Amino acid sequence: MELSLRLKTIANMVDKCYACADIGTDHGYIPIYLISNDICKKVIASDINKGPINKAKFNIKSEGLDKFIECRIGSGLTTLKSKEVNCAIVAGMGGNLIKDIVEEGKDIFKDLDYLIVQPVQNPEIFREYVYNNGYKIIEEELCVDENKFYEIIKVKYSKKSTKIDNVFYEVSKYLLENNHPLIKEYILKKIEKNNRILIAITEDTKLAAVRREEVKRKIFKLKELLEWL
Ligand SMILES: C[S@@+](CC[C@H](N)C(=O)[O-])C[C@H]1O[C@@H](n2cnc3c(N)ncnc32)[C@H](O)[C@@H]1O
Repeated sequence: MELSLRLKTIANMVDKCYACADIGTDHGYIPIYLISNDICKKVIASDINKGPINKAKFNIKSEGLDKFIECRIGSGLTTLKSKEVNCAIVAGMGGNLIKDIVEEGKDIFKDLDYLIVQPVQNPEIFREYVYNNGYKIIEEELCVDENKFYEIIKVKYSKKSTKIDNVFYEVSKYLLENNHPLIKEYILKKIEKNNRILIAITEDTKLAAVRREEVKRKIFKLKELLEWL
């Protein structure tokens, strides 16, 4: 079974350990990869919906891995008991939903060595939540799969919030500091997108003027980040 670059990048951020949980597993590809590549001894594949869990069960059985992967139905981290797994993954959902899953499962999250998340939209909402709620980003990855950028964030509980410029909700400070090979292209794409937004704000109203200033400020800050590289 060949995994997409996005899923492989996520799975390869899991350190060799006894057990991991894949929340919102859908097809169950990540659990299959983690066991097949000897990264984990046991994986809990969890999903809120019956359809995806049946799909995962079918794929897992086809690979002969049902002894090592346990499927569970339920929302977010609530299907896990405290300290049952070393780490967990929440991938392929929006930043808002991932934030809600972490918030609802805070007690389980605090006991994990780390959580790996891959927000498909609004990663900035998740980073803002992380920095302001006593969590810590320990690693990030960026990949391009089928012409789309994907950000993957490894986060852990740390008790301490971090004051940081808002621009780092949008662009990963970790990736900048580590000079990730794709970070420049990523920032340039963001600048291009905001330039298009600016051109599209044509109304002659007070509100439009405020919005134009906001976008201009964002473009200025994004350009400043390029000087780090
Ligand atoms: C787009 S799929 C992503 C599948 C896989 N994680 C990936 O990245 O390719 C999202 C999955 O999350 C599940 N899901 C949505 N909300 C959830 C929640 N609160 N708890 C657990 N699973 C959830 C959906 O049923 C669906 O199977």
